Amino acid sequence: MIIIKSQQQLAQMRGSCRIAAIVRDTVARKVGPGVTTRELDEYAEELIGGFGAKSAFLGYRGYPGHVCISVNAEVVHGIPGARRIRLGDIVSIDIGVRYDGYVGDTATTVMVGVTDPEVMRLVQTTEEALYAGIEKARPNAKLFDISHAIESTAVGGGFAVVREFVGHGIGREMHEEPQIPNFGEPGRGPRLKPGMTFAIEPMVNLGGAEVEVLADGWTVLTRDRKPSAHFEHTIAVREGRAEVLTQAEEG
Ligand code: MF3
Ligand code: CO
Ligand code: CO
Repeated sequence: MIIIKSQQQLAQMRGSCRIAAIVRDTVARKVGPGVTTRELDEYAEELIGGFGAKSAFLGYRGYPGHVCISVNAEVVHGIPGARRIRLGDIVSIDIGVRYDGYVGDTATTVMVGVTDPEVMRLVQTTEEALYAGIEKARPNAKLFDISHAIESTAVGGGFAVVREFVGHGIGREMHEEPQIPNFGEPGRGPRLKPGMTFAIEPMVNLGGAEVEVLADGWTVLTRDRKPSAHFEHTIAVREGRAEVLTQAEEG
């Protein structure tokens, strides 16, 4: 996490995050039946390059893709490949870009055509959980107020949060201190201050909370193979409410 101290630094964080948000939404619109996850990765690579930015994922601990594409029971870190998207799938797209020395990290989950109503509710609830967490990111609140708000929204919907993967501080690097679990006790953890920058990212499962990592060393799957959704924004704590740095563009 950085603590933004100057207008210039704020502008730089806004810059990398704006690129990440545009790439996220542009790739999301390309998701449809018959498209392979590799095609989505190639499209993201082209878009990121077009901004003069770099993928923050490629080569990170040896990660082979430009983005992460996780379908249905895949929770996060799905490696793009030959898999073809089908009607009824849910597809999470996680994008991290580095630009001008700063990193933006954001994810969304797209429903392809008509999905099962329970799965649709899972996706909606996961996005609501993200925004419930962001609402708590205010000066003088405690870090785990964010965690607790996410957990109560997800559990209130009858779903389970993943515990092995967490949100994080962000700034000059993608993963910085502190870790931001998607569960926890309100009123605990460090006190929040203006300028702090976080990536908040609930991963919520339709069935049990348990996950496992595939033999590829990356793909995280639900143990019961039921679907999982993932939303992520990079935010900055400000006086009053947080600024969502990876907000969608207007229009
Ligand atoms: N962007 C992921 C996160 O939200 C991390 C992806 S790491 C990678 O924290 F290596 F898989 F790209
Ligand atoms: Co991410
Ligand atoms: Co992240």
